[in-house]
Amino acid sequence: MARAAASYVCQSCGAAASKWAGRCDACGDWNTLQEEVGAAAAGESAHKTSLAATRGKGAKLNLVPLKGESAEPPRAVSGMAEFDRVTGGGLVPGSAILVGGDPGIGKSTILLQVAARIAGSDGVVYVSGEEAIEQVRLRARRLGLSESPVQLAAATNLRDILSTLEAAKPRLVVIDSIQTMWSDVLESAPGTVSQVRACSQELVRFAKRSGACVLLVGHVTKDGQIAGPRVVEHMVDTVLYFEGERGHQFRILRAVKNRFGPTDEIGVFEMTGEGLQEVANPSALFLSSREEGATGSCVFAGIEGTRPVLVEIQALVAPSPLGTPRRAVVGCDAGRLAMVLAVLETRAGLSLAGNDIYLNVAGGLRVTEPAADLAVAAALISSHLNIPVAADRVIFGEVSLSGTVRRVAQAEARLKEAAKLGFGAAIVPGAPDSGGAAQAKSDPSLTTYEVRDLHSLLDLLKGDA
Ligand code: TYD
Ligand code: MG
Repeated sequence: MARAAASYVCQSCGAAASKWAGRCDACGDWNTLQEEVGAAAAGESAHKTSLAATRGKGAKLNLVPLKGESAEPPRAVSGMAEFDRVTGGGLVPGSAILVGGDPGIGKSTILLQVAARIAGSDGVVYVSGEEAIEQVRLRARRLGLSESPVQLAAATNLRDILSTLEAAKPRLVVIDSIQTMWSDVLESAPGTVSQVRACSQELVRFAKRSGACVLLVGHVTKDGQIAGPRVVEHMVDTVLYFEGERGHQFRILRAVKNRFGPTDEIGVFEMTGEGLQEVANPSALFLSSREEGATGSCVFAGIEGTRPVLVEIQALVAPSPLGTPRRAVVGCDAGRLAMVLAVLETRAGLSLAGNDIYLNVAGGLRVTEPAADLAVAAALISSHLNIPVAADRVIFGEVSLSGTVRRVAQAEARLKEAAKLGFGAAIVPGAPDSGGAAQAKSDPSLTTYEVRDLHSLLDLLKGDA
């Protein structure tokens, strides 16, 4: 019953359907099904016939014991400490890395900088499917990298690119971007899920076969309009996301998957006129324009990956003219704000209903740790009661639904960073299970105030006023 049927492929998750629908059954996204003639169906039937024809004739695999000698691969180090940390100590030969992010965030810029720094002893090829050679050269000049021995190509046909790479035998390949590449084996347009998937598969295979490290650029839009690199994520060894708010210069490179290193690690950069500059001390940067003595603001001592990062949490509680007050959150989870608000209402007796509430993490960082709860609560209390949190204090702790404050991991590292940046005191969890003593005895230069629950936090803040 072979029929060259049209198939509809979700451009967000890659699921195929035989009928068009407004909503993808697999991922629930709206308006993402697009017709792709023969794409998924053709591939599947070809696979079936080839397997059937060769049934019983498979070659015997060479099974080996788990125990064995495998040397740690020599990594290609870019010398940009922030980039190398995120990749887990440099680029691993034969690996494929996806660098995702919004258009215009700086993916091409950072990859050109990395390519130029690694180029030298070994070949580095930069394939641009979006920009002409002249544009890439102009960018390199702007970055002061025009002398570097990077090989350029402006191409989109995968077949041409692969044969060029097979001949050039580079050590590092940058494909900018995977959405512009197309394989002539498929009929669908570049950028569709089947093209993105097929091209990535071929490039990943090239990486494994040749031992080159392949960096793929993937655009993601907030509403998932362009075929999501989500379908590529499981094919590659490492997924890095380049994030940042448009209005800010700070850019954060975050590892969300890494087969060769830790995830959750971040690298912080600043976009300047001469490209991306590393930011070795992000805390100082995030706190640089803080207003002292303002209400509704406090400094949270967080951990990003293996590194402590201090950020300012800002809250504004304002009487609402609306029947349903607004809750707006930037850089933080709206669900956790709702939880902290509910706990403040029920357990600490604060009456926040009827107020619009805005929460913001300054500097464009995204905080996902539960340890930020206490800082969020302090910022809300400070704004609501109009009492400033003393400027020389950092704060961290997780708030439980009962209103008690729970301990969090890596308290020492947080306190050490605070002391290093000249803070004089810290508000820390003092739950009964911490054994009476403060959660961490750190720098003697730092006074620690322990709070067991939101009531004691409230008392502490009021006492300061
Ligand atoms: P780009 O790397 O082209 O983004 P992407 O590849 O993720 O789409 O970065 C584009 C933005 O960066 C553009 O708005 C200009 C800005 N930029 C600078 O501010 N300074 C620079 O030195 C460069 C090269 C770009
Ligand atoms: Mg680009």
